[in-house]
Amino acid sequence: MSKMPQNSADVPESIIEPVPDPLDEAAIGAAVDNALAAIASAATLEALKSARLAHTGEKSPLSLANREIGALAKEFKAAAGKLMGGSRGRVAKALAARSDVLEAEDAARILLEETVDVTAAPRRRRAGARHPLSTLQDRVCDIFVGMGWEIAEGPELESEWFNFDALNFAPDHPAREMQDTFFVEPPEAHLLLRTHTSPVQVRALLERELPVYVLCPGKVFRTDELDATHTPVFHQFEGLAIDKNLSMADLLGTLEHFTRQMFGEEARVRIRPNFFPFTEPSAELDIWHPGAKGGPRWIEWGGCGMVNPNVLRAAGIDPDEYSGFAFGMGIERALMFRNEVADMHDMIEGDVRFSEHFGMEI
Ligand code: PHE
Repeated sequence: MSKMPQNSADVPESIIEPVPDPLDEAAIGAAVDNALAAIASAATLEALKSARLAHTGEKSPLSLANREIGALAKEFKAAAGKLMGGSRGRVAKALAARSDVLEAEDAARILLEETVDVTAAPRRRRAGARHPLSTLQDRVCDIFVGMGWEIAEGPELESEWFNFDALNFAPDHPAREMQDTFFVEPPEAHLLLRTHTSPVQVRALLERELPVYVLCPGKVFRTDELDATHTPVFHQFEGLAIDKNLSMADLLGTLEHFTRQMFGEEARVRIRPNFFPFTEPSAELDIWHPGAKGGPRWIEWGGCGMVNPNVLRAAGIDPDEYSGFAFGMGIERALMFRNEVADMHDMIEGDVRFSEHFGMEI
């Protein structure tokens, strides 16, 4: 029987050598010495792993020799078994001992490397803060959700039809002028940046089943220059309720409840006649702000009214069957008088020191 491995192709080059005879004490001893030397010189766990593979793996001289025992004549098997068992045992023991040493060294090294220097100067990372416009907007939404209303959304890039036509703006209404509205090219696409959140009224009515009670917060755009009290991008929230038999009293009751939630029990609302193409009658909304700087006073906050029958018709709703109210208020304006922010620049510059000032109210 050949002592060479049958298939030398899958044996590493280094150990293509005669398989030691399992009865040849000198040859086995030499293989053990080789193994012990490799184990002793392994400086890392990785190197020890290679030594383990080379000297105890399936293709190692000792394993191959051990496999030969089976082929020996019966009377030689016991002696060969004893020699091989003892030899392999010594190698295994040396491996275990070296492994313990290297693992302990490794643990000590990691401990040292990961030591935390408690005396080192801290690296400060500033926590961010939510912008007060976001927290205020969330608060408004929460109050309406608390009344069972839903939150609705619409696109900021809006079609002229939703922003003006469906809301009963006459074709020559001055608000459609370029000086007030950002139109988007090409003009024949009739797209614009919505100038108010009111287009969501018609969108909500087209998308939803009646009755509808929705609140829509969002960004709006007008061609104003940025100064202390104006910004070309600001936020509004739009309320819309369409149901059977809704009246101006429901509008006032809703706004009164909302205002008290926002500004305290002493807050009041008052309306003054006004005109919007999409409401009839229309009103200006003032609130009595008990906590205003310089003493309680009336503050003008937004517009409201009963939804114009033409708007209901544009959404395919019979104005003889359904009626409702709508209102729209500015969020920046609310932040100005609620929190005494005097300059619009502070709201849009994004300086975290401004936001931090309002705390982390969620
Ligand atoms: N969209 C109006 C504005 O931006 C406000 C408004 C909303 C008025 C709803 C009446 C009803 O000024």
